[in-house]
Amino acid sequence: MQEKKIELSFLHGKLNELSSQEKVLVSHAKSAINTAYAPYSGFLVGASVLLANGEIINGSNQENVAYPSGLCAERVALFYAGASFPDEEISTIAVSVASKDFKVSDIVSPCGACRQVMAEYEDKQEKAIKVILHSPDDYIIIANTVEALLPFMFKSPLLKRH
Ligand code: THU
Repeated sequence: MQEKKIELSFLHGKLNELSSQEKVLVSHAKSAINTAYAPYSGFLVGASVLLANGEIINGSNQENVAYPSGLCAERVALFYAGASFPDEEISTIAVSVASKDFKVSDIVSPCGACRQVMAEYEDKQEKAIKVILHSPDDYIIIANTVEALLPFMFKSPLLKRH
């Protein structure tokens, strides 16, 4: 067997190092936290999707007493964007996090299911989606492509009927 290595790269820094357009997107994600419905976890997440036409779609996590019925902020925003603007490219998604119940000091790293959904849209549009993760103390992590967050994503040409 031969070893093959994959190099993953991301940027990290502070909020004030972002471009003004990126700062606006992060501020949307931060505001979207206020619309989170998270009575079970107390973990509040906001996600904002920037489309190529400049439109910004905001989402937040929506929980349910039947726990698996809830949905993460990222997928709420991405599915709304996909349903409302099916032909528009997704440029960037910003994700912000907070809690009223406990101290959150780090960025929220999107769950596997959200990464899979981001990766599918990236694959569909054949153009990278930038992912900006924002912590409550304004620390930022940027992945310039979803591929960096989900190497070996599930793709099956067999499931695509043309
Ligand atoms: N959650 C998100 O909305 N996004 C993530 O990236 C991770 C987790 C939500 C799901 C659930 O409502 C709560 O945070 C706790 O897992």
